[in-house]
Amino acid sequence: AAARSVQAQQAAEQAAAALTAEVLEREVGRRRNFAIISHPDAGKTTMTEKLLLYGGAIHEAGEVKARKSSRSATSDWMELEKQRGISITSTALTFEYSGCQLNLLDTPGHQDFSEDTYRTLAAADNAVLLVDGAKGIEPQTRKLFAVARLRGLPVFTFVNKMDRPALNGFEIVEQLEKEFGLQSYPVNWPIGSGDRFMGVYHRPSKKVILYEKRGQAGRSRGASVKAAYDLDDPELPGLVEGDLWEQLREEVELLEVLGDELDLEGVMAGKVTPVFFGSAMNNFGVELFLQTFIQLAAKPGPAPTRSGVAVSPTSPNFTGLVFKLQANMDPKHRDKVAFVRVVSGKFEKGMKVRVARSGRTVTLAAPQRMFANERQTVHEGFAGDVIGLTNPGAFAIGDTLVTGPLLAFPPIPTFSPELFAYLRCPPNQKKPFLKGVEGLLGEGAVQVLYSTDEYITDPVLAAVGQLQFEVVQYRMKDEYGVDTTLEPLPYCVARWMAAGGGWERLEGLGRLFGTTVMKDVYGRPVLLFRNEFALQQVLGEHADKLGELSPFA
Ligand code: G4P
Repeated sequence: AAARSVQAQQAAEQAAAALTAEVLEREVGRRRNFAIISHPDAGKTTMTEKLLLYGGAIHEAGEVKARKSSRSATSDWMELEKQRGISITSTALTFEYSGCQLNLLDTPGHQDFSEDTYRTLAAADNAVLLVDGAKGIEPQTRKLFAVARLRGLPVFTFVNKMDRPALNGFEIVEQLEKEFGLQSYPVNWPIGSGDRFMGVYHRPSKKVILYEKRGQAGRSRGASVKAAYDLDDPELPGLVEGDLWEQLREEVELLEVLGDELDLEGVMAGKVTPVFFGSAMNNFGVELFLQTFIQLAAKPGPAPTRSGVAVSPTSPNFTGLVFKLQANMDPKHRDKVAFVRVVSGKFEKGMKVRVARSGRTVTLAAPQRMFANERQTVHEGFAGDVIGLTNPGAFAIGDTLVTGPLLAFPPIPTFSPELFAYLRCPPNQKKPFLKGVEGLLGEGAVQVLYSTDEYITDPVLAAVGQLQFEVVQYRMKDEYGVDTTLEPLPYCVARWMAAGGGWERLEGLGRLFGTTVMKDVYGRPVLLFRNEFALQQVLGEHADKLGELSPFA
């Protein structure tokens, strides 16, 4: 009888494991996780809103806009607080479309740039490159693309605002190729632009989808699609204005010559980008984009660990990566939230995990997902999902959380800083000052460097955007009661030596063209240059000695 009960138990366990495996396969298989990268004003908020509209997560356009309207000037502290509120509430938006669960990781939208953006991309599986059709590729898109490239993310391009005078499709395709080395595969192709925007030619279905501008600019789904015609439909030439029709026929032929088959492997490797044209504001082209995106986008995949072994997203053990920390999300409660990307297994509310760095066991008691200004409690999550955990101070950026054997994901690389300033401590406030620097540093609010002169102990803040300095100073005062001053330094390029270490390589270098050397928090040398030119000069003279230099820590 005893043997039989053991057998029964084993059978039950096996059945449970099989069921879990099935659930994991199914849930991971329907997840698509992505971040939108764009230059401010290209239409990210509008696009986000329309995606949510199609996903049924909101019911009328305008809900996202309302949240955004309070972001703007960076100098006003009240505004700053609000901005932080906005960027947080939209850290991850989840919606369903056609059986898939899409997780949109929102990158902060303000003019100024911060490290958060970078880290958000570290949690993304796909990047959607949103381009203003009139402006083409803009500076901030370049910066963000560099990050996506570093991570080898598949990139999907949406050329927006086609209802305004825009660059020719081929000009956009050429920019993508020239600037990013990205080969394009246009999934749809615009017919005219601006007042003469007539619609798009959808290559997979060989249909022309005509656009009709409506008064209530795309408030609900599908509002601006007039009709779809086969390319050889005899009615079509009468519907598309003469010269545009001729142009379309020519361009369609050209496209076929340039590339007929979509190279899916190239897409997965981030070398080929499917390109879409449309107008987010007018709700045109967004659904075509979504339909193709869910088919082609990368699903959550295996994640490499520091030891080199990859973790499968369907592994039964839960693992997660802390990619963002945010304090004081709710000014009334002064709480902290750690954002975790589920990498494998199943997340369950109340589960116990170990933090790989400290070995500490933590109960994930109050997981949340943010939407608009509401927090919804999350009960379960799978690879590709983002969960906000109230942070008892147990987490740091880059932490790996595990239920099974200890393992760790590689550190999240930091953005190459371009602005440097001493953060000066006021007299008699050393203690709260150091506490504040450590706290903000732990959160990854800013990078910190130190002088190689041991008598200079004030830290040098190294940032990507001015806003980061402002946030640090504001929070030093607000949270730690310390009135700091900033003393800007005249450098704008930082380089680390590849393969760690490197102090010995700096000895007896001679002329350094106004370059200074500082050390990072790990004690490694960092060269700070006054400009790109100085960097080139130093490299020209000392390349053999310095070896390879990296813009990242
Ligand atoms: P962002 O988040 O990337 O900064 O851009 P956002 O969506 O806020 O869009 C920036 C501006 O571009 C907005 O105009 C928005 O309405 C407009 N826009 C977005 N998509 C399209 C489009 O497809 N066509 C056209 N013509 N315009 C588009 P705004 O005047 O700044 O704001 P609002 O008054 O329209 O709200």
